[in-house]
Amino acid sequence: MFTLSLPLADYTALLAIVCSLFPIAALAGSIHECTVEKRQDEHVCVFRGVVYRANDTNFVFKAPASPKVEHIVFEDSTLSHIPAEFLTAFPVLKALTVVQTNLSSVVIPSKLERLYASNNRISKVIVHQTKDSTTMTELILDSNHLSDISNLTRLAKLEILMLSGNKELPVGDTVDLGRFKGLDSLRSLVLSDVGMMYVENKDNVALPSLELLDLSNNNLITTNLHMNVLAPMKKLEILRLTHTLISDLEALQLTQNNGNLKKVYLEGNNFMCDRQKQIVDHFNRSGVETPVDNKNVNCILGFQKENDICCQTAGLGKLHQGLDSTTKMATTSEVPTSTPSTSTMPSKMEKNKESAATLNALRNGLLVLTFVAIVKSGLF
Ligand SMILES: *[C@@H]1O[C@H](CO)[C@@H](O)[C@H](O)[C@H]1NC(C)=O
Ligand SMILES: *[C@@H]1O[C@H](CO)[C@@H](O)[C@H](O)[C@H]1NC(C)=O
Ligand SMILES: *[C@@H]1O[C@H](CO)[C@@H](O)[C@H](O)[C@H]1NC(C)=O
Ligand SMILES: *[C@@H]1O[C@H](CO)[C@@H](O)[C@H](O)[C@H]1NC(C)=O
Repeated sequence: MFTLSLPLADYTALLAIVCSLFPIAALAGSIHECTVEKRQDEHVCVFRGVVYRANDTNFVFKAPASPKVEHIVFEDSTLSHIPAEFLTAFPVLKALTVVQTNLSSVVIPSKLERLYASNNRISKVIVHQTKDSTTMTELILDSNHLSDISNLTRLAKLEILMLSGNKELPVGDTVDLGRFKGLDSLRSLVLSDVGMMYVENKDNVALPSLELLDLSNNNLITTNLHMNVLAPMKKLEILRLTHTLISDLEALQLTQNNGNLKKVYLEGNNFMCDRQKQIVDHFNRSGVETPVDNKNVNCILGFQKENDICCQTAGLGKLHQGLDSTTKMATTSEVPTSTPSTSTMPSKMEKNKESAATLNALRNGLLVLTFVAIVKSGLF
Protein backbone atom coordinates (compact mmCIF):
# COMPACT_ATOMS: atom_id res chain seq x y z
CA MET A 1 0.00 0.00 0.00
CA PHE A 2 1.17 3.55 -0.69
CA THR A 3 -0.20 6.83 0.56
CA LEU A 4 -0.96 10.13 -1.16
CA SER A 5 1.98 11.69 0.59
CA LEU A 6 4.47 9.86 -1.67
CA PRO A 7 6.53 12.26 -3.81
CA LEU A 8 5.85 12.35 -7.55
CA ALA A 9 9.11 10.58 -8.37
CA ASP A 10 7.91 7.53 -6.47
CA TYR A 11 4.73 7.33 -8.53
CA THR A 12 6.81 7.44 -11.68
CA ALA A 13 9.05 4.65 -10.39
CA LEU A 14 5.98 2.62 -9.49
CA LEU A 15 4.52 3.16 -12.96
CA ALA A 16 7.77 1.96 -14.51
CA ILE A 17 7.64 -1.21 -12.42
CA VAL A 18 4.01 -1.85 -13.37
CA CYS A 19 4.85 -1.35 -17.04
CA SER A 20 7.77 -3.76 -16.91
CA LEU A 21 5.45 -6.34 -15.39
CA PHE A 22 2.97 -5.86 -18.26
CA PRO A 23 5.10 -5.31 -21.36
CA ILE A 24 2.03 -5.42 -23.63
CA ALA A 25 0.71 -2.25 -22.04
CA ALA A 26 4.04 -0.59 -22.76
CA LEU A 27 4.01 -1.73 -26.43
CA ALA A 28 0.47 -0.58 -27.01
CA GLY A 29 1.52 3.02 -26.58
CA SER A 30 3.97 2.91 -29.50
CA ILE A 31 4.60 6.46 -30.72
CA HIS A 32 6.19 7.22 -34.08
CA GLU A 33 7.21 10.55 -35.48
CA CYS A 34 8.31 11.11 -39.05
CA THR A 35 11.24 13.19 -40.20
CA VAL A 36 10.91 15.63 -43.06
CA GLU A 37 13.23 15.06 -45.99
CA LYS A 38 13.51 16.38 -49.49
CA ARG A 39 12.99 13.76 -52.20
CA GLN A 40 13.21 14.83 -55.81
CA ASP A 41 11.09 17.96 -55.93
CA GLU A 42 8.95 17.45 -52.88
CA HIS A 43 9.13 17.34 -49.12
CA VAL A 44 8.20 13.97 -47.70
CA CYS A 45 7.92 12.85 -44.11
CA VAL A 46 9.58 9.51 -43.39
CA PHE A 47 8.59 7.00 -40.72
CA ARG A 48 11.32 4.44 -40.04
CA GLY A 49 11.35 1.17 -38.17
CA VAL A 50 7.60 0.89 -37.68
CA VAL A 51 6.43 -2.65 -36.93
CA TYR A 52 2.66 -2.94 -37.10
CA ARG A 53 1.17 -6.42 -36.85
CA ALA A 54 -2.35 -7.54 -37.59
CA ASN A 55 -3.87 -6.91 -34.15
CA ASP A 56 -1.73 -4.03 -32.95
CA THR A 57 -3.63 -1.03 -31.63
CA ASN A 58 -3.04 2.32 -29.96
CA PHE A 59 -0.26 3.43 -32.23
CA VAL A 60 0.37 7.15 -32.45
CA PHE A 61 1.70 8.63 -35.69
CA LYS A 62 2.93 12.20 -35.57
CA ALA A 63 4.39 14.67 -38.01
CA PRO A 64 6.34 17.81 -37.11
CA ALA A 65 4.09 20.89 -37.01
CA SER A 66 5.90 22.42 -39.98
CA PRO A 67 6.56 22.26 -42.83
CA LYS A 68 3.25 20.72 -43.72
CA VAL A 69 3.89 17.51 -45.69
CA GLU A 70 1.41 15.71 -47.88
CA HIS A 71 3.59 12.78 -48.87
CA ILE A 72 4.34 10.16 -46.20
CA VAL A 73 6.97 7.47 -46.66
CA PHE A 74 7.41 4.30 -44.60
CA GLU A 75 10.93 2.86 -44.70
CA ASP A 76 12.52 -0.17 -43.06
CA SER A 77 9.08 -0.92 -41.71
CA THR A 78 6.82 -3.94 -41.53
CA LEU A 79 3.10 -3.28 -41.80
CA SER A 80 0.47 -5.97 -42.13
CA HIS A 81 -1.96 -3.31 -43.30
CA ILE A 82 -2.22 0.49 -43.30
CA PRO A 83 -2.78 1.38 -39.61
CA ALA A 84 -6.14 3.00 -38.90
CA GLU A 85 -4.40 5.36 -36.46
CA PHE A 86 -2.18 6.54 -39.30
CA LEU A 87 -5.13 7.31 -41.58
CA THR A 88 -6.85 9.29 -38.79
CA ALA A 89 -3.66 11.22 -38.06
CA PHE A 90 -3.19 12.25 -41.71
CA PRO A 91 -6.64 13.05 -43.06
CA VAL A 92 -5.43 14.99 -46.11
CA LEU A 93 -2.68 12.74 -47.34
CA LYS A 94 -1.92 13.25 -51.03
CA ALA A 95 0.81 10.67 -51.54
CA LEU A 96 1.88 7.54 -49.69
CA THR A 97 4.98 5.41 -50.21
CA VAL A 98 4.92 1.95 -48.64
CA VAL A 99 7.39 0.05 -50.80
CA GLN A 100 8.50 -3.36 -49.50
CA THR A 101 6.76 -3.23 -46.14
CA ASN A 102 5.10 -6.69 -46.22
CA LEU A 103 1.60 -5.23 -46.66
CA SER A 104 -1.13 -7.73 -47.51
CA SER A 105 -3.72 -5.06 -48.09
CA VAL A 106 -3.67 -1.36 -48.75
CA VAL A 107 -6.14 1.50 -48.28
CA ILE A 108 -6.65 4.36 -50.67
CA PRO A 109 -8.00 7.16 -48.46
CA SER A 110 -10.36 9.78 -49.80
CA LYS A 111 -7.90 12.53 -50.82
CA LEU A 112 -4.99 10.37 -51.95
CA GLU A 113 -3.54 11.08 -55.39
CA ARG A 114 -0.49 8.83 -55.58
CA LEU A 115 0.28 5.48 -54.01
CA TYR A 116 3.64 3.75 -54.36
CA ALA A 117 3.31 0.23 -52.96
CA SER A 118 5.68 -1.96 -54.99
CA ASN A 119 7.11 -5.19 -53.61
CA ASN A 120 4.56 -6.18 -51.03
CA ARG A 121 2.12 -9.08 -50.78
CA ILE A 122 -0.96 -6.99 -51.48
CA SER A 123 -4.02 -8.93 -52.58
CA LYS A 124 -6.67 -6.43 -51.43
CA VAL A 125 -7.11 -2.77 -52.22
CA ILE A 126 -9.71 -0.96 -50.14
CA VAL A 127 -10.77 2.19 -51.94
CA HIS A 128 -12.31 5.08 -49.97
CA GLN A 129 -13.04 7.06 -53.11
CA THR A 130 -16.07 7.01 -55.36
CA LYS A 131 -16.21 7.43 -59.10
CA ASP A 132 -17.38 11.02 -58.60
CA SER A 133 -15.00 12.03 -55.83
CA THR A 134 -11.90 10.17 -56.91
CA THR A 135 -8.56 11.96 -56.77
CA MET A 136 -6.11 9.15 -57.56
CA THR A 137 -3.86 9.68 -60.57
CA GLU A 138 -0.96 7.29 -60.02
CA LEU A 139 -1.11 3.77 -58.61
CA ILE A 140 2.08 1.75 -58.46
CA LEU A 141 1.40 -1.81 -57.35
CA ASP A 142 4.03 -3.88 -59.13
CA SER A 143 5.29 -7.12 -57.57
CA ASN A 144 2.29 -7.88 -55.41
CA HIS A 145 -0.29 -10.66 -55.21
CA LEU A 146 -3.28 -9.00 -56.82
CA SER A 147 -5.82 -11.15 -58.58
CA ASP A 148 -9.10 -9.23 -58.13
CA ILE A 149 -8.72 -5.64 -59.32
CA SER A 150 -12.41 -4.77 -59.55
CA ASN A 151 -12.07 -2.29 -56.65
CA LEU A 152 -9.76 -0.18 -58.80
CA THR A 153 -12.11 0.53 -61.67
CA ARG A 154 -13.87 3.35 -59.84
CA LEU A 155 -10.60 5.32 -59.93
CA ALA A 156 -11.84 7.15 -63.01
CA LYS A 157 -9.08 9.79 -62.88
CA LEU A 158 -6.25 7.28 -62.69
CA GLU A 159 -3.57 8.00 -65.30
CA ILE A 160 -0.84 5.53 -64.41
CA LEU A 161 -1.43 1.96 -63.31
CA MET A 162 1.53 -0.30 -62.77
CA LEU A 163 0.70 -3.96 -62.18
CA SER A 164 3.79 -5.77 -63.45
CA GLY A 165 4.90 -8.84 -61.55
CA ASN A 166 1.44 -9.62 -60.16
CA LYS A 167 1.55 -13.27 -61.16
CA GLU A 168 -1.94 -13.98 -59.85
CA LEU A 169 -3.55 -11.44 -62.16
CA PRO A 170 -4.37 -13.69 -65.16
CA VAL A 171 -7.59 -15.68 -64.99
CA GLY A 172 -6.99 -19.04 -66.65
CA ASP A 173 -3.73 -17.69 -68.13
CA THR A 174 -5.69 -14.79 -69.68
CA VAL A 175 -5.80 -11.08 -69.02
CA ASP A 176 -8.96 -9.55 -70.43
CA LEU A 177 -8.36 -5.84 -70.94
CA GLY A 178 -12.07 -5.32 -70.26
CA ARG A 179 -11.24 -5.68 -66.58
CA PHE A 180 -9.92 -2.12 -66.72
CA LYS A 181 -13.23 -0.73 -67.95
CA GLY A 182 -14.05 2.55 -66.23
CA LEU A 183 -10.46 3.77 -66.09
CA ASP A 184 -11.26 6.37 -68.69
CA SER A 185 -8.29 8.62 -67.87
CA LEU A 186 -5.73 5.85 -67.89
CA ARG A 187 -2.72 6.82 -70.02
CA SER A 188 -0.28 4.14 -69.00
CA LEU A 189 -1.02 0.50 -68.20
CA VAL A 190 1.86 -1.80 -67.34
CA LEU A 191 1.06 -5.52 -67.39
CA SER A 192 4.54 -6.92 -67.90
CA ASP A 193 5.67 -10.12 -66.23
CA VAL A 194 2.26 -11.19 -64.96
CA GLY A 195 2.59 -14.70 -66.41
CA MET A 196 -0.19 -14.35 -68.96
CA MET A 197 -0.45 -16.47 -72.10
CA TYR A 198 -3.50 -14.80 -73.64
CA VAL A 199 -4.62 -11.18 -74.02
CA GLU A 200 -8.29 -10.62 -74.71
CA ASN A 201 -10.81 -7.81 -74.86
CA LYS A 202 -14.14 -9.63 -75.08
CA ASP A 203 -16.31 -6.51 -74.72
CA ASN A 204 -14.14 -4.30 -76.92
CA VAL A 205 -13.48 -1.96 -74.03
CA ALA A 206 -11.93 1.24 -75.29
CA LEU A 207 -9.70 2.64 -72.52
CA PRO A 208 -10.09 5.95 -74.37
CA SER A 209 -7.02 7.71 -72.94
CA LEU A 210 -4.56 4.83 -73.08
CA GLU A 211 -1.25 5.89 -74.63
CA LEU A 212 1.12 3.22 -73.36
CA LEU A 213 0.46 -0.48 -73.00
CA ASP A 214 3.20 -2.77 -71.77
CA LEU A 215 2.67 -6.50 -72.31
CA SER A 216 6.35 -7.43 -72.15
CA ASN A 217 7.84 -10.46 -70.42
CA ASN A 218 4.81 -12.66 -70.74
CA ASN A 219 4.38 -16.13 -72.23
CA LEU A 220 2.39 -14.77 -75.15
CA ILE A 221 2.54 -16.72 -78.39
CA THR A 222 1.52 -15.51 -81.82
CA THR A 223 -1.89 -17.15 -81.96
CA ASN A 224 -2.85 -15.84 -78.51
CA LEU A 225 -2.20 -12.19 -79.25
CA HIS A 226 -4.52 -10.59 -81.76
CA MET A 227 -4.18 -6.95 -82.55
CA ASN A 228 -7.96 -6.50 -82.73
CA VAL A 229 -7.99 -6.51 -78.90
CA LEU A 230 -6.19 -3.16 -79.10
CA ALA A 231 -8.33 -1.75 -81.91
CA PRO A 232 -10.72 0.21 -79.61
CA MET A 233 -7.78 2.02 -77.97
CA LYS A 234 -7.59 4.89 -80.36
CA LYS A 235 -5.04 6.96 -78.43
CA LEU A 236 -2.49 4.14 -78.21
CA GLU A 237 0.98 5.48 -79.01
CA ILE A 238 3.42 3.06 -77.44
CA LEU A 239 3.14 -0.71 -77.42
CA ARG A 240 5.76 -2.67 -75.52
CA LEU A 241 5.92 -6.29 -76.63
CA THR A 242 9.44 -7.36 -75.67
CA HIS A 243 10.49 -10.77 -74.39
CA THR A 244 7.40 -12.74 -75.28
CA LEU A 245 7.26 -15.94 -77.35
CA ILE A 246 5.65 -14.46 -80.45
CA SER A 247 7.13 -15.21 -83.86
CA ASP A 248 4.73 -13.06 -85.84
CA LEU A 249 2.65 -9.93 -85.39
CA GLU A 250 -0.40 -8.53 -87.16
CA ALA A 251 1.47 -5.34 -87.94
CA LEU A 252 -0.87 -4.23 -90.72
CA GLN A 253 -3.93 -4.52 -88.49
CA LEU A 254 -2.15 -2.61 -85.77
CA THR A 255 -1.26 0.36 -87.97
CA GLN A 256 -4.70 0.35 -89.59
CA ASN A 257 -6.63 0.24 -86.32
CA ASN A 258 -4.41 2.36 -84.12
CA GLY A 259 -3.68 5.46 -86.13
CA ASN A 260 -1.87 7.22 -83.29
CA LEU A 261 0.73 4.50 -82.87
CA LYS A 262 4.26 5.92 -82.64
CA LYS A 263 6.48 3.22 -81.14
CA VAL A 264 6.48 -0.57 -80.94
CA TYR A 265 9.16 -2.33 -78.87
CA LEU A 266 9.93 -5.77 -80.30
CA GLU A 267 13.20 -7.12 -78.91
CA GLY A 268 13.48 -10.51 -77.26
CA ASN A 269 10.91 -12.29 -79.43
CA ASN A 270 11.13 -15.19 -81.87
CA PHE A 271 10.69 -13.60 -85.28
CA MET A 272 12.39 -15.15 -88.28
CA CYS A 273 14.77 -12.51 -89.62
CA ASP A 274 12.98 -12.06 -92.96
CA ARG A 275 9.60 -11.74 -91.23
CA GLN A 276 11.01 -9.33 -88.70
CA LYS A 277 12.39 -7.20 -91.51
CA GLN A 278 8.96 -7.10 -93.16
CA ILE A 279 7.38 -6.05 -89.88
CA VAL A 280 9.99 -3.41 -89.10
CA ASP A 281 9.80 -2.08 -92.68
CA HIS A 282 6.02 -1.94 -92.50
CA PHE A 283 6.16 0.03 -89.26
CA ASN A 284 8.79 2.33 -90.75
CA ARG A 285 6.63 3.03 -93.81
CA SER A 286 3.70 3.72 -91.50
CA GLY A 287 5.73 6.21 -89.50
CA VAL A 288 5.98 3.93 -86.45
CA GLU A 289 9.37 3.63 -84.75
CA THR A 290 10.71 0.32 -83.50
CA PRO A 291 13.15 1.45 -80.78
CA VAL A 292 15.45 -1.02 -79.04
CA ASP A 293 16.32 -0.68 -75.35
CA ASN A 294 19.26 -3.09 -75.29
CA LYS A 295 21.14 -2.85 -78.54
CA ASN A 296 24.19 -4.61 -77.14
CA VAL A 297 22.72 -8.00 -76.20
CA ASN A 298 24.44 -11.04 -77.65
CA CYS A 299 22.00 -13.09 -79.67
CA ILE A 300 21.53 -16.69 -78.61
CA LEU A 301 22.50 -19.60 -80.86
CA GLY A 302 20.52 -19.56 -84.09
CA PHE A 303 19.71 -15.86 -83.78
CA GLN A 304 21.38 -12.87 -85.38
CA LYS A 305 20.88 -9.15 -85.19
CA GLU A 306 18.85 -7.23 -87.74
CA ASN A 307 17.65 -3.70 -87.03
CA ASP A 308 19.37 -4.10 -83.63
CA ILE A 309 16.93 -6.91 -82.73
CA CYS A 310 17.94 -10.56 -82.45
CA CYS A 311 15.94 -12.68 -84.88
CA GLN A 312 16.03 -16.29 -86.02
CA THR A 313 18.33 -17.13 -88.88
CA ALA A 314 16.85 -19.23 -91.68
CA GLY A 315 18.90 -22.39 -91.16
CA LEU A 316 17.81 -23.18 -87.63
CA GLY A 317 14.47 -21.46 -88.00
CA LYS A 318 12.27 -24.51 -88.19
CA LEU A 319 13.84 -25.99 -85.13
CA HIS A 320 13.46 -22.82 -83.13
CA GLN A 321 9.94 -22.08 -84.22
CA GLY A 322 8.55 -24.92 -82.17
CA LEU A 323 11.13 -24.66 -79.48
CA ASP A 324 11.27 -20.97 -78.81
CA SER A 325 10.97 -21.06 -75.04
CA THR A 326 13.13 -24.15 -74.64
CA THR A 327 15.87 -22.55 -76.65
CA LYS A 328 15.83 -19.56 -74.36
CA MET A 329 15.95 -21.77 -71.31
CA ALA A 330 18.81 -23.91 -72.59
CA THR A 331 21.13 -21.05 -73.44
CA THR A 332 22.27 -18.21 -71.28
CA SER A 333 23.75 -15.54 -73.52
CA GLU A 334 20.56 -13.52 -73.68
CA VAL A 335 18.67 -13.68 -70.42
CA PRO A 336 15.23 -12.11 -70.58
CA THR A 337 14.26 -10.04 -67.52
CA SER A 338 11.76 -12.74 -66.77
CA THR A 339 12.27 -16.12 -68.33
CA PRO A 340 9.02 -17.38 -69.79
CA SER A 341 8.06 -20.61 -68.12
CA THR A 342 8.19 -23.77 -70.17
CA SER A 343 5.95 -25.87 -67.98
CA THR A 344 2.76 -24.71 -69.66
CA MET A 345 4.10 -24.69 -73.19
CA PRO A 346 3.43 -28.11 -74.73
CA SER A 347 -0.37 -28.00 -74.42
CA LYS A 348 -0.61 -24.46 -75.74
CA MET A 349 2.07 -24.71 -78.37
CA GLU A 350 1.52 -22.65 -81.43
CA LYS A 351 -0.49 -24.28 -84.17
CA ASN A 352 2.21 -25.65 -86.37
CA LYS A 353 1.94 -25.81 -90.12
CA GLU A 354 4.87 -28.19 -90.30
CA SER A 355 4.52 -31.78 -91.45
CA ALA A 356 4.53 -34.70 -89.06
CA ALA A 357 8.12 -35.42 -90.02
CA THR A 358 9.18 -31.90 -89.11
CA LEU A 359 7.30 -32.19 -85.87
CA ASN A 360 9.25 -35.32 -85.10
CA ALA A 361 12.46 -33.52 -85.90
CA LEU A 362 11.32 -30.77 -83.56
CA ARG A 363 10.64 -33.21 -80.77
CA ASN A 364 14.04 -34.82 -81.25
CA GLY A 365 15.62 -31.39 -81.22
CA LEU A 366 13.72 -30.61 -78.04
CA LEU A 367 15.03 -33.76 -76.42
CA VAL A 368 18.58 -32.99 -77.47
CA LEU A 369 18.35 -29.44 -76.17
CA THR A 370 16.81 -30.57 -72.93
CA PHE A 371 19.45 -33.25 -72.59
CA VAL A 372 22.20 -30.72 -73.22
CA ALA A 373 20.63 -28.43 -70.62
CA ILE A 374 20.44 -31.27 -68.11
CA VAL A 375 24.02 -32.36 -68.76
CA LYS A 376 25.20 -28.74 -68.47
CA SER A 377 23.44 -28.16 -65.20
CA GLY A 378 24.62 -31.51 -63.92
CA LEU A 379 28.26 -30.94 -64.72
CA PHE A 380 28.64 -27.30 -63.76
C1 LIG B 1 -5.95 -11.22 -34.36
O1 LIG B 1 -7.08 -11.39 -33.54
C2 LIG B 1 -8.00 -12.35 -34.00
C3 LIG B 1 -9.23 -12.33 -33.08
O2 LIG B 1 -8.92 -11.82 -31.83
C4 LIG B 1 -7.33 -13.71 -34.04
O3 LIG B 1 -8.23 -14.69 -34.52
C5 LIG B 1 -6.13 -13.64 -34.96
O4 LIG B 1 -5.42 -14.86 -34.95
C6 LIG B 1 -5.18 -12.53 -34.55
N1 LIG B 1 -4.15 -12.39 -35.54
C7 LIG B 1 -2.85 -12.31 -35.24
C8 LIG B 1 -1.92 -12.22 -36.38
O5 LIG B 1 -2.44 -12.28 -34.09
C1 LIG C 1 4.86 -10.78 -43.62
O1 LIG C 1 3.49 -11.11 -43.62
C2 LIG C 1 3.22 -12.49 -43.52
C3 LIG C 1 1.72 -12.73 -43.57
O2 LIG C 1 1.00 -11.66 -44.02
C4 LIG C 1 3.79 -13.05 -42.24
O3 LIG C 1 3.57 -14.44 -42.19
C5 LIG C 1 5.27 -12.74 -42.16
O4 LIG C 1 5.77 -13.14 -40.92
C6 LIG C 1 5.51 -11.26 -42.35
N1 LIG C 1 6.93 -10.99 -42.40
C7 LIG C 1 7.53 -10.17 -41.57
C8 LIG C 1 9.00 -9.95 -41.80
O5 LIG C 1 6.93 -9.59 -40.70
C1 LIG D 1 -12.74 -4.47 -52.24
O1 LIG D 1 -13.21 -3.49 -51.34
C2 LIG D 1 -13.97 -3.99 -50.25
C3 LIG D 1 -14.44 -2.84 -49.39
O2 LIG D 1 -14.40 -1.64 -50.01
C4 LIG D 1 -13.12 -4.91 -49.43
O3 LIG D 1 -13.87 -5.46 -48.38
C5 LIG D 1 -12.60 -6.02 -50.30
O4 LIG D 1 -11.71 -6.85 -49.57
C6 LIG D 1 -11.86 -5.46 -51.49
N1 LIG D 1 -11.48 -6.57 -52.37
C7 LIG D 1 -10.32 -6.63 -53.00
C8 LIG D 1 -10.03 -7.89 -53.73
O5 LIG D 1 -9.50 -5.73 -53.00
C1 LIG E 1 12.47 4.84 -91.32
O1 LIG E 1 13.75 4.51 -91.77
C2 LIG E 1 14.57 5.59 -92.16
C3 LIG E 1 15.84 5.04 -92.75
O2 LIG E 1 16.46 4.13 -91.88
C4 LIG E 1 14.80 6.50 -90.96
O3 LIG E 1 15.57 7.61 -91.33
C5 LIG E 1 13.47 6.94 -90.41
O4 LIG E 1 13.68 7.70 -89.24
C6 LIG E 1 12.60 5.74 -90.09
N1 LIG E 1 11.29 6.16 -89.65
C7 LIG E 1 10.77 5.77 -88.49
C8 LIG E 1 9.43 6.26 -88.18
O5 LIG E 1 11.38 5.06 -87.71
